[in-house]
Amino acid sequence: MRTVVITGATSGIGLEIAKLLAKQGFRVLGVGRDWDRCQRALEIVTRVSAPGRAEFFAADLLQQREIIRLAEELGETLRVTAEGELFALINNAGCARGWYMTTEDGYEQQFALNFLAGFSLTYRLLPQLKKANGRVIMTGSKSHNGIGVHWNDVMLSRRYNPLTAYKQSKLCCLLFARGLNDRYAHQGIRAYAVDPGLVRTDIGNKDTGGLVNLVWTLRKRGGASPEIPARTFLYLCQAEPAPEGLNYFRCRERGYSRQVTSANADRLFALGERLCGVQYDKRAEA
Ligand SMILES: NC(=O)c1ccc[n+]([C@@H]2O[C@H](COP(=O)([O-])OP(=O)(O)OC[C@H]3O[C@@H](n4cnc5c(N)ncnc54)[C@H](OP(=O)(O)O)[C@@H]3O)[C@@H](O)[C@H]2O)c1
Repeated sequence: MRTVVITGATSGIGLEIAKLLAKQGFRVLGVGRDWDRCQRALEIVTRVSAPGRAEFFAADLLQQREIIRLAEELGETLRVTAEGELFALINNAGCARGWYMTTEDGYEQQFALNFLAGFSLTYRLLPQLKKANGRVIMTGSKSHNGIGVHWNDVMLSRRYNPLTAYKQSKLCCLLFARGLNDRYAHQGIRAYAVDPGLVRTDIGNKDTGGLVNLVWTLRKRGGASPEIPARTFLYLCQAEPAPEGLNYFRCRERGYSRQVTSANADRLFALGERLCGVQYDKRAEA
């Protein structure tokens, strides 16, 4: 049975991916930030799939120390139950914010959760991914377009705009996938971004308040059910051989911003490595 780790699996798109993959015979290791919500998600996934298909782990992915702890727990579970192999890592956890908020490491929260958490967790699970010729899937967004990375103030601490921070974090997801392919495709690992489209979830109503909360409440009414984007994640986990594209929408390749270059990906890797205290090139030799 192929094992898949899904972050942000307690609600919205991530929960639908967990249900769909478990139903289709994958073993799902779901991650959520809250233990009670993990238990609830486990019940939901178990109701629609065979017993023992899913297990949940609680970790606050805003904090690097929690990511390190989670990776150790996942590594041990994979060692015991999957011969140390991870077939796919879906970095889906994400948030929106209405104002400038930082993590305990001092990082802006949308940047920290939407991009850095996946950057750090992927690094820590690389050996297991390599063993399985695995796939890494970032939940991206069409909103990555029309922006560049603010290299001189990536946390936007000097002039914060919540939408700019969200768009930049999603551009970073695509750049990360690009950089992973540059580094590891020849070793059998493939990375992708999925654009879910506009989806009816509560993302803009959590820890946002005020204007962002109101705008999202109106905007999400026109969104699709989370079951729709979940199918694209299933496609990328099932397709053989591994698809060659980078960005996918509704099970098809989709174009992406001209900012998504190898040069920008290299720059982002250098920044991410410094912020997470990791060195991808060293891990490549592991
Ligand atoms: N909805 C859209 O239209 C849309 C469009 C493009 C991209 N996306 C992307 O899709 C992904 C999923 O979002 P969604 O719309 O499905 O929203 P959602 O329902 O709020 O799901 C977000 C998930 O991330 C988890 N999470 C939040 N903060 C966390 C933390 N500190 N540590 C660990 N997990 C945390 C949430 O846990 P809780 O269940 O406890 O809240 C939830 O499981 C995000 O990356 C988002 O940017 C969404």
